[in-house]
Amino acid sequence: MADFRKSTVYQVYPKSFYDSNGDGLGDLRGITEKLDYIRDLGADYIWITPFFVSPQNDNGYDVEDYYKIDPRYGTMEDFEELAREAGKRGIRLMLDMVFNHTSTRHEWFRKAMEGDEAYKDFYIFRKGKAPGVPPTNWESKFGGSAWEYVEQFDEYYLHLFDVTQADLNWDNPRVREELQKIVRFWMGKGVKGFRFDVVNLISKGAFEDDDQGDGRRFYTDGPHVHEYLKELNEATFGTDAEFITVGEMSSTTLENCYRYAGEDSHELSMVFSFHHLKVDFMGNEKWVIVPFDFQKLKDILYEWQTKMAEHRAWNAVFWCNHDQPRVVSRFGNVKKYWKESAKMLGTVVHCMRGTPYIYQGEELGMTNCGFTDISQYRDVESLNHFRILQDKGLSEENAYQILAIHSRDNSRTPMQWTGGRQAGFTEGEPWIQVSENHSFINAEDEERDEDSILSYYRKLVQLRKDYDVIAYGDFEPLDVRNPSVMAYKRTWEGQELLVICNFYGKETVWSSGQDLDAFCCILGNYEDQRTEKDRAALRPYECMVLYRKK
Ligand code: GLC
Repeated sequence: MADFRKSTVYQVYPKSFYDSNGDGLGDLRGITEKLDYIRDLGADYIWITPFFVSPQNDNGYDVEDYYKIDPRYGTMEDFEELAREAGKRGIRLMLDMVFNHTSTRHEWFRKAMEGDEAYKDFYIFRKGKAPGVPPTNWESKFGGSAWEYVEQFDEYYLHLFDVTQADLNWDNPRVREELQKIVRFWMGKGVKGFRFDVVNLISKGAFEDDDQGDGRRFYTDGPHVHEYLKELNEATFGTDAEFITVGEMSSTTLENCYRYAGEDSHELSMVFSFHHLKVDFMGNEKWVIVPFDFQKLKDILYEWQTKMAEHRAWNAVFWCNHDQPRVVSRFGNVKKYWKESAKMLGTVVHCMRGTPYIYQGEELGMTNCGFTDISQYRDVESLNHFRILQDKGLSEENAYQILAIHSRDNSRTPMQWTGGRQAGFTEGEPWIQVSENHSFINAEDEERDEDSILSYYRKLVQLRKDYDVIAYGDFEPLDVRNPSVMAYKRTWEGQELLVICNFYGKETVWSSGQDLDAFCCILGNYEDQRTEKDRAALRPYECMVLYRKK
C-alpha cells in the first residue's frame, strides 16, 4: 500500500507541461508522453490541475462541467490512457476538485440565472444593503468587490474569486450530494487522490461588513467546514484506505489544520498552508516589494512542523505551485548561485516532516519569467492588479516591477524540455511565452549532468524512501535565531538526521553543539563538506544532510 509519508507528489499544470498536437497548449497526451520523466524523478503521485470543461478565465479553476474533459486538453480516452500508463509505472493520479465555486457557465448557474429557485439556492444570492450597495464590503481575492449585481433579481451573487467564479452554497444538502457524485465518478476512473481547491472557504459564516479587513475572517475556516469535510470523506474517498487527499487552505490557522489533517479526524490526509509564502508580503498585501524576512520564514516553518507533529496531523510541504513565483528567484540567488541555492531550497523542504510536492520545472531550477510588457501576461489576477496598482497611483514602471516578482505567470511559462525552439514544449506558438533561459535551464541537458539540479532532486526523492527518519521522524528546530542558517534535526528509532542550510551568499560557520564527526553526510550541494568536531563551515548557499544511527 502506498504510504503517503514516504511519497512525493509531482504537480503538473497541463496547459504548460507538454503539447502533443502543436496547438500551443499542453494536453493530457502530453503528460502521457512524459511519464517516464516523472517516473525517473521518483514521484509516486501526479497532481494534475483542472482539465475539465471551462471557459478558462482562471485557467480551468472556473469549471463548467466536472464530468467532461475540456477538448483543449483531450478526451476521456486520453485520460484513461494516461491513468493506465501511469499505473504501469507505479504512479497514481490526483485530481484537482474546485468545489468552492463553479464557472458562471456551469449549468447550475445558468439555471439559477433563469430564475429557477432550486438552482438559485446552489449559490449565494443576497439583497444589497441599499440601492447600489453590495450586501457586504468583502473583496474578491482577484481585486474589486466580491459581489456582482444581477439586475433581474435585484440581488447580488458572491464570488470570492473572479466574477465568473460563483461561490457554491454548501449549506444546501443538494449541493453537497452533487459534489459527492463528482468525486465518486472520478474515483471510478481509477484516480487515487484529490486536491481540494480553497476548501477551507466553503462554509460561509455571517454576511457582515468587515471593518478590519477584506472579509476573510467571515468565511475562512467557517462554522461547518469540518462537518462538511467529514461528510464528504465518509460518503466518498474515506472508504478507500489507499486514497490521499490534500486541502488547499487559504489563510488558515494551525488549530483548524490539526482537525483538517489529523490522524483520526477523517477529513483529509494533509493540508497546504501558505503562511511561509507570505514572508515577502506586507501583512496580507502581496502587491508590494519587500525583501523576504528570513527569521519569519523559519519561525513559521518551525511552528508548523513541530505543532502539526505534536497534534499528529500531516503537512504537505512545498515552495512552489502554479500560484507562486519560482522559489529560486524568490528565496535563492539566480544570478550568482542559481544551482547551489536551488538545491539548498529543495533540501529544506524534502527533509521535513510532511509529503513533499514538486511543481513542474522546480526540479530544473526554473526561474521567474522576466516579462516586461503587459501583453506577455495571461493571468486574470495579474491583469486585474496591474490596473488596480495604477489606479492607486503607482507608475506603470512600478506596477511592472511588482508583477515581475509576484505574478502567478512566473510559474506558468512552459516547461523547459530542451534548449531548442520553444524549449521543446510545442511545435506551434505557445499560449504564453517560453522563458529565454531555456537555452541553459532544460531537462535534456540536466538529465545528462550528474551535478544538475534535476539529478539532485532525484536523490532527494529517493532519500525519503531510503531513510525512515525522513518519513516518520520527529522534528526539532536548531539554533533558531541564527541570522543566515536554517537547521533542524529529525529523530526516529535511534536514527538522527541533521539538515543544515545556509540561506545566503556569504560564508558562515555553524556550531551544532554535537559532534558532527559522528555523522556521515548523505547529501550536500558541494563536492565535500567542511565539518570538524561540532562546527560546519558553510559556503554560499551550502546545505548538508548528515545522518547517524545509534
Ligand atoms: C486556488 C488555485 C488558484 C485559483 C483559485 C480559485 O487558489 O490554486 O489557481 O485561482 O484557487 O479557484
